[in-house]
Amino acid sequence: MIEKQTWSQRFESALHPAIARFNASIGFDIELIKYDITGSQAHAKMLAHTGIISYEEGEILFTGLEQIRQEYDQGKFQPGIDSEDVHFAVEKRLTEIVGDVGKKLHTARSRNDQVGTDTRLYLRDQIRKIRQQLREFQGVLLDIAEKNVETLIPGYTHLQRAQPVSLAHHLLAYFQMAQRDWERLADVYNRVNISPLGCGALAGTTFPIDRHYTAKLLHFDRVYANSLDGVSDRDFAIEFLCAASIIMVHLSRLSEEVILWASEEFRFVTLKDSCATGSSIMPQKKNPDVPELVRGKTGRVFGHLQAMLVIMKGLPLAYNKDLQEDKEGIFDSVNTVQACLEAMTILLQEGLEFRHQRLATAVTEDFANATDVADYLAARGVPFREAYNIVGKVVKTSIAAGKLLKDLHLEEWQEIHPAFAADIYEAIAPRQVVAARNSYGGTGFVQVREAIINARTQLGRK
Ligand code: ARG
Repeated sequence: MIEKQTWSQRFESALHPAIARFNASIGFDIELIKYDITGSQAHAKMLAHTGIISYEEGEILFTGLEQIRQEYDQGKFQPGIDSEDVHFAVEKRLTEIVGDVGKKLHTARSRNDQVGTDTRLYLRDQIRKIRQQLREFQGVLLDIAEKNVETLIPGYTHLQRAQPVSLAHHLLAYFQMAQRDWERLADVYNRVNISPLGCGALAGTTFPIDRHYTAKLLHFDRVYANSLDGVSDRDFAIEFLCAASIIMVHLSRLSEEVILWASEEFRFVTLKDSCATGSSIMPQKKNPDVPELVRGKTGRVFGHLQAMLVIMKGLPLAYNKDLQEDKEGIFDSVNTVQACLEAMTILLQEGLEFRHQRLATAVTEDFANATDVADYLAARGVPFREAYNIVGKVVKTSIAAGKLLKDLHLEEWQEIHPAFAADIYEAIAPRQVVAARNSYGGTGFVQVREAIINARTQLGRK
């Protein structure tokens, strides 16, 4: 039987064991313990600072909490289900350690503002870590880009060969996505970093607390201006899950490309043994499990975002127990994003080898230079739409003849249009096709080199 604990004398009998299990969050919110301790220490200091408890009492609470931190770190404190949640667990242990003074800790506070504080402290740490991981991911993309400015790769629209691009340009597209993810998280951080501590259960408190004092101790930028809002807001979590989902979108797109590239149909990359797996039955296989898992795990993060939105929709002010459901989704999203960023960074760093020979062939074996023929004519006075139609015909007849554009004789070109001259071959060579796209942000080598310099600056590299 669960011991009758925690609640006031109003309760006469203990919870039904199944209900106790159902109600408890200790199984997962133990993740918050170090933040709960830090938050409680700040609260204890504030209580002493404002004279709500004595200075000595404040010291005792602070030290007792510190002992719990150590006990937990050493594996000596493992609260069970009788504690319901991490907040009760810590308070109970504190009272065991310091005696009755421990019972003063919860003065002028509720678990509602407490759990909100803990979750924000946790997310702040995790956001910092994810931003750091994004930097490492960007660093690896940049390293590969720097070595591959002049490596060409087919560029696609509709997954049809469109125009060749620099491999560096392709990878820097992901660099830029990660850059926005990094910036977006900084913005999310601003709204995670608001203190709800001192909002009480919902309406504030009768004690002369100092919310700005605890906010400062805990390095919050500001405090919630409205107590009802402070204890029931989970916008910050929704925003975080949204930013996490967008990161996963980006990782998943890259994953999909790696999976395609590693296939026999593309053969653009080889997966190294350290990052690929075999099949239990087909001995020839090497599978791209890492990007597949990243692509698959994306679904759970989207799911957590959706769950959080639905949890919040229709909740009356202020705190409702529904809000306890925020945590597992947040934790799982954090763990998933961190694990995926780590795996993708390693995959890029040491698990992939671009097949340069194959890429070089790939960019010569199609009609991805057709736009350049149209541009060639347009640059010589033929209106672009007309040029476009002419080249359409050229492509059609070439396909019929089983030829590529580079294989047409000069006479054949000139039959099509007198503006064609011998320099057409140079104009449609893959290297030139790429080099010529020198508009800002384009794949032209000059642009890509510029983009690399900018990317280096964004990462703070010299
Ligand atoms: N475990 C609870 C949660 O995660 C803590 C807050 C409980 N507050 C309450 N009024 N029952 O939301």
